[in-house]
Amino acid sequence: MGKVTLIDHPLVQHKLSLMRRRETSSSDFRRLLKEVSMLMAYEATRELPMTTEKIQTPMAPMDAPVLDGKKLVVVSILRAGNGILDGILDIVPSARVGFVGLYRDHETLEAIQYYLKLPAQMEDRTVLMVDPMMATGHSSVAATDRVAATGPRSIKFLCLLAAPEGIAHFHQHHPDVEIVTAAIDSHLNDKGYIVPGLGDAGDRIFGTK
Ligand code: URA
Repeated sequence: MGKVTLIDHPLVQHKLSLMRRRETSSSDFRRLLKEVSMLMAYEATRELPMTTEKIQTPMAPMDAPVLDGKKLVVVSILRAGNGILDGILDIVPSARVGFVGLYRDHETLEAIQYYLKLPAQMEDRTVLMVDPMMATGHSSVAATDRVAATGPRSIKFLCLLAAPEGIAHFHQHHPDVEIVTAAIDSHLNDKGYIVPGLGDAGDRIFGTK
């Protein structure tokens, strides 16, 4: 089975609980998602390759550690992924950004693509896919299929919440892609929503309900 990393840091867990509350406003939800995303990105980027660069401090020359290789790519799965993207770009401002637009067919729960824009030269890059919710896993798989086809060095999938069904489905298709999540919830309901979850992440971020 594929790797799942649960980020159980107290700050992440506390903020996630605030986000789950029904009465949390869209503006608070967006702010909390940005804060949680920054904390999660800190963990998810722990294994980025490093090198050293000769620099001069005011005191002495030194070989200083810096990120190596091509720039990190963050791929946001529209539209809710953009709520995570904002937080990540605050701590990795030089990242390249891609977008995958998918909608869920409410009958079949299958993911249909309506938009795809990825940075050039994906080969040898590290990719962080972002979407707050891994529910059935269908859209996560469909988005990751498109990114994997461009031949990056490695892919991680960062979400806020995952359902056990979604994780199993995702790792059937992408066993080499690590899932980084803040919680694994109980189950999906008959409409494909995560329970207890937090409702529709897109609606909660953008206030569209
Ligand atoms: N997408 C959401 O926004 N919420 C869920 O619970 C499942 C999918």
